[in-house]
Amino acid sequence: MGTESPDDTFDPTRPHAARVYDYLLGGKDNFAADRAVGDQIIARLPEVQVGVQAQRAVLNRVVRYLVGEAGVRQLLDIGSGLPTSDNVHEIAQRTGPGTRVVYVDNDPVVLAHARAILSDQAATFAERGDLLDPASIVASPAVREHLDWTKPIGLLLCGIVHYVLDEENPEGLIAELIAALPPGSYVFIHHLLDTGDSAAAELQAQMLNGLGRVKFRTLEEVRRLFGDLELMPPGLVPVAEWRPDRATIPARYRLVLSMACAGVGRKA
Ligand SMILES: C[S@@+](CC[C@H](N)C(=O)[O-])C[C@H]1O[C@@H](n2cnc3c(N)ncnc32)[C@H](O)[C@@H]1O
Repeated sequence: MGTESPDDTFDPTRPHAARVYDYLLGGKDNFAADRAVGDQIIARLPEVQVGVQAQRAVLNRVVRYLVGEAGVRQLLDIGSGLPTSDNVHEIAQRTGPGTRVVYVDNDPVVLAHARAILSDQAATFAERGDLLDPASIVASPAVREHLDWTKPIGLLLCGIVHYVLDEENPEGLIAELIAALPPGSYVFIHHLLDTGDSAAAELQAQMLNGLGRVKFRTLEEVRRLFGDLELMPPGLVPVAEWRPDRATIPARYRLVLSMACAGVGRKA
């Protein structure tokens, strides 16, 4: 994949972030090339699957927080990934029936699966789009029509921004999205962390080798991605510490869970 932009044509011989992630989650929507990258990562970091489960778990908690506590009734999920056991629209519908959800991803396989499972879901819509081109996401007629841009929107950027390289200006891309959001909107970011630890550096090297692009960032770098949004308690924290359902983490999982952070900011 080199350092070119994420692929927009389907090629099962090239590993893809969405499908490697699906494999690590125990899904079936992946190919041999994806499984090879996943197996290499598992061989070096056997607890990696706890990390990806923690990513799904924090996404679940954030959706419950936004819909259940903050009263948001529309979600824009960019980098939504392949359908898995508990999807954003299902959690949102359970928490706040009628919540509208737009899924955006640049992987055609993700879109094909999303559209198949959503064929009977009027409140949820899937659209092809690229985080590298935020203007075209917010200007897309379908996205504009499906969401009410005069009311707060919850923007979900879960496990996607670390696939945007520094030279692609992730801060500027997110600032463009924030500028388009109505007041009272929220932005959730889950991001892989440059902890300074050799295990995180090794995971980054393996993902870079397998997927061709990834950039772990420090907590301060991730904080800057929120611009001047106010961070909701508990702030930007290691993934398992964001409003946890369970208080304690087994010691053997602390290292892998230190490699990602999560935070939710609110636009005044
Ligand atoms: C690791 S998956 C995360 C899926 C889901 N958000 C979650 O956290 O469980 C990352 C997703 O981001 C998508 N992605 C990566 N770069 C993207 C981009 N520039 N624009 C849109 N989607 C992108 C991939 O196709 C993949 O589905």
